[in-house]
Amino acid sequence: MPNIPSNQLFYGGDYNPEQWPESIWPEDIRLMCEAGVNLVTVGVFSWAKLQSAPGVFHFEWLDRVLDLLAEHKIAVDLATATASPPPWLVRLHPEMLPVRRDGTVLSAGSRQHYHPSSQAYQNACRELVTALAARYAHHPALKMWHINNEYGCHVAADYGEETAVAFRSWLQARYKDLDAVNTAWGTTVWSQLYSDWWDIAPPRQTPTHVTPGLLLDFQAFSSEAMQACLRIELEILRKYSPDKPVTNNFMGLFKPADYRAWAHDLDFVCHDVYPEPDGSHQPNGMACDYTRSLKNNDPWMVMEQVTTHVNWRARNATKPPGVMRLWSYQAIARGADGICFFQWRQAREGAEKFHGAMVGHGRPETQRCFQESKQLGQELQRMHEIAGSRYHAEMGLLFDQRNWWALEQPCKPNAEHTYVQALESFHAPCLYNNLPIDFVFPDSDLSRYRVLFAPALYLVKAGLAERLEAWVRDGGRLVLTFFSGIVDEQDRVWLGGYPGPFRRLLGLEVEEWAIPAVDDPNASLVATTEGLALGLAASYPFSLWAEVVRPETCKVLATFATGFYAGKPALTRNVFGKGEAWYLATKPSERMYHDLVRQVAQSAGISPPVKLDDLKQVEVAERRTANGMRYLFILNHGTETVRVNDPALCGVELIRGVTVEGSLELKPKDVAIIRS
Ligand code: GAL
Repeated sequence: MPNIPSNQLFYGGDYNPEQWPESIWPEDIRLMCEAGVNLVTVGVFSWAKLQSAPGVFHFEWLDRVLDLLAEHKIAVDLATATASPPPWLVRLHPEMLPVRRDGTVLSAGSRQHYHPSSQAYQNACRELVTALAARYAHHPALKMWHINNEYGCHVAADYGEETAVAFRSWLQARYKDLDAVNTAWGTTVWSQLYSDWWDIAPPRQTPTHVTPGLLLDFQAFSSEAMQACLRIELEILRKYSPDKPVTNNFMGLFKPADYRAWAHDLDFVCHDVYPEPDGSHQPNGMACDYTRSLKNNDPWMVMEQVTTHVNWRARNATKPPGVMRLWSYQAIARGADGICFFQWRQAREGAEKFHGAMVGHGRPETQRCFQESKQLGQELQRMHEIAGSRYHAEMGLLFDQRNWWALEQPCKPNAEHTYVQALESFHAPCLYNNLPIDFVFPDSDLSRYRVLFAPALYLVKAGLAERLEAWVRDGGRLVLTFFSGIVDEQDRVWLGGYPGPFRRLLGLEVEEWAIPAVDDPNASLVATTEGLALGLAASYPFSLWAEVVRPETCKVLATFATGFYAGKPALTRNVFGKGEAWYLATKPSERMYHDLVRQVAQSAGISPPVKLDDLKQVEVAERRTANGMRYLFILNHGTETVRVNDPALCGVELIRGVTVEGSLELKPKDVAIIRS
């Protein structure tokens, strides 16, 4: 399968020339060349312009756009335009409109008004994508294909009749007979035994909680229904242009989509990322780590971000000067080979006219958005050698999509225990301590890693616990946290004592959960002598959750100091084969996560590429080439100038073109990239 070309960094954005008079196109090209743009995504929302009735296409305008771009050596990421069906298609096939849980039919008039199981929608996609692929497969501007746009962004699941039929077929393929469905979903509870396939429907609005197994399978089905649309397009594109890579823009940690499964289909992955502009750089970093890992650290791209501000929050704060550049370099530091924006030129009309862009409404010469875009684009032109080098980590954050769905279903001991937060608790200390981290999936090769953090692993698929055990026995260091090892793939409790399949590995039993009605501000846990010796502080606050743990073979590193479970273990470590398995039975303060992560990394012999004496605002990340070249990125996210001293800082700094010898000063929001 073709990946993105690894000989250049891509830079550009969504280009919607169909929204503008042609007289403005030459100006677009001139500004693109000035800003170092070498890739634009064309046609994302142009279906209505491309086709006015079944079989009636209008490609002339797109021919002219692509020819113009090719003439100026600007490559095209050509979108298949299927994200927003034209009004005529809805008129012919109103059954393609999505239906909400409560039965409301969503109308046309904005975008994404289709449900993925619609035969009419799928057929129309086939027709359009075939016509596009046949016409442009060999166009000199075509660099890559862009399927649809952010599947599920507005409508991630459909509850209508056509979907009900598709859901039943999906279940029949998965379970073969109805008894198996009844067993998997535990339908004897609340008298929900099915005696006919026809009685099964999507989990529509119900008097109270829907059967959890039904909901869980519907979540998996809904992700696969979107993936099926992706595959329809993919197959056509591959047939016409097998040499051109194909992608679809993901949205980072997006709950409805099992992106790990989708990533296996695509040639390369990319994401759209819109973190709060005035917050920490950690969410952007975590999104990068997730997306990169979906395809095992192959080159990936930022397909959309914004130069300044979005328009869809209640209050659309702007990125302060320098932040767009800095977060773009953060993505490159974390493995991206392309930085693109939504969008090239700010719209004059329509719903997104107040959304930031590379070129704003005013004059480019005086616009911060254009000037910053141009600076970054020109810098990246001097940095193509970075493309294709890899981010490398030996620590992993275990992520399981089905666990996410199951963990956050209703009727849990504490609804405030959410997956992304649990992941962040470990990701943040890795990022702030500059310890490289990948996301790892149940189907990943674990042997690449020396440390795995697996927070909130409530649902454990068959075989996973055994794989983790084998990996720990071989020397791996695994950290599990509260409410893990509770249910199997069908959300049925593992009997015989919590945490089910992890009991032996952890050497303990969880006797019960002890959720406080409200968090006690004085709740604390204290380190044992053994914990202190490992570098834990004397005590830490905790909240949200506590468990009554009975140690078996594990050592106790910290105990609860408050609550009816005072004196019982809060943190344990069990030596298992050549490795060890840690268990955290509560949600402690951030400080404890930091101490724990540092300790586990240190004991595994993992250290940051540069020692930074607690400069939390300075991010360091490294990319390496196969032949041993290193690119060390130093990013100052803080508000003060910093000086960084380390013998590792030796080589040529690529942005300034100067030699660095062990020391470097960085202004706020500035970045340095040292090649050695
Ligand atoms: C994305 C979408 C773009 C644009 C952008 C605005 O979700 O793919 O088309 O609408 O949001 O932030």
